[in-house]
Amino acid sequence: MNPLRTCIVGFGKIAAGYAKDPVMARHYRYTTHSQVLAAHPRFRWTAAVDPLADAQTAAAELSPGIVIASDAAKLTNAADVDVAVLATPPGPERTAALAAFPNLKAVLVEKPLGRNQAEVDAFLAACAKRGITVQVALWRRADPAFRALAAGDLSARIGKLQTAHALYGNGLRNNGVHLVDMIRMLCGDIAAVQATGPANTPAHLPIPGDIQVNAVLTLAGGAQVFMSALDFGAYREVGLDLWGDAGRLAILQEGLSIAHFSRAPNRAMSGEREIASDAPAFLPSTVGEAFWHLYDDLARALDTGTQPCSPAASAVASERVIDAIAESAQTGARKNL
Ligand SMILES: NC(=O)c1ccc[n+]([C@@H]2O[C@H](COP(=O)([O-])OP(=O)(O)OC[C@H]3O[C@@H](n4cnc5c(N)ncnc54)[C@H](O)[C@@H]3O)[C@@H](O)[C@H]2O)c1
Repeated sequence: MNPLRTCIVGFGKIAAGYAKDPVMARHYRYTTHSQVLAAHPRFRWTAAVDPLADAQTAAAELSPGIVIASDAAKLTNAADVDVAVLATPPGPERTAALAAFPNLKAVLVEKPLGRNQAEVDAFLAACAKRGITVQVALWRRADPAFRALAAGDLSARIGKLQTAHALYGNGLRNNGVHLVDMIRMLCGDIAAVQATGPANTPAHLPIPGDIQVNAVLTLAGGAQVFMSALDFGAYREVGLDLWGDAGRLAILQEGLSIAHFSRAPNRAMSGEREIASDAPAFLPSTVGEAFWHLYDDLARALDTGTQPCSPAASAVASERVIDAIAESAQTGARKNL
């Protein structure tokens, strides 16, 4: 099969910059779009777009043969592009960029899909009108370890979920959407949300105007997830600590650590049981390869004419939860979904 000719639109940190971090490189084999495109046999990286001269220079250095432009409309090989990786910040520019590629089969678009509902709707309508497949870079959906948990391994390990604590930072629309999407992937639909206080609006969140909110999410299955926002200035975490009736699973250090704790006889009380929180069994983490799998899955979806693993409808559902949390923080009321 011919490789999918691919253009990266927006050549910043997630497109290429993070690969320069030597600490990240120890744990993530693929941390940027360009790393996957340089290596994946089903894709051929043919173009890059960014208005910044430094970004254009970086793209030229990484892949000397590709066509580079300041604007997608100025690309000389746009008609040959099969896949556009939209790695700009959310905004109408993403929808505008689509028009430059007349033969697009798919987009791999960064989260969040948009800054508001109207923007998301406009982008997805433009894709739907042209039959463009949408894969959203909520990469946990492509991660092999998370996929195995979602496919039954989680319930085999912990039984029925009783409660969970979920942690994020750097903004509700930025990392909160990753967290909510992971909760939906592993624990099922979210039926209602209740913010437990007003929104916090710290300066310097990556998405302008973003907020931090603590909230209780009620799952369709009945259990509640207590979601707390952290100050990433102190330390980072996007994590989920799940307590079932037969065990506990803690996904911490942004997925680099997956610890399973068994149910055991209680050490301090006869006839009772406990979770062996002092005796974790670590599952292999695959987050370092998840970006590769996101692309692999997109190629599979295009080859087979099936849905990708992180389709638009699923990402929209996660963003609706985020909108509902923001609304609840404003009104103080519980919001059913
Ligand atoms: N999936 C993930 O885990 C993950 C991680 C980090 C960032 N992101 C998301 O990726 C997106 C980009 O984040 P980033 O940290 O790389 O931002 P960034 O600011 O480092 O890079 C964005 C780039 O887009 C360029 N750009 C802006 N408008 C453009 C346009 N009209 N055409 C072409 N290029 C344009 C900018 O010049 C910049 O170089 C955001 O939506 C962010 O939330 C996702």
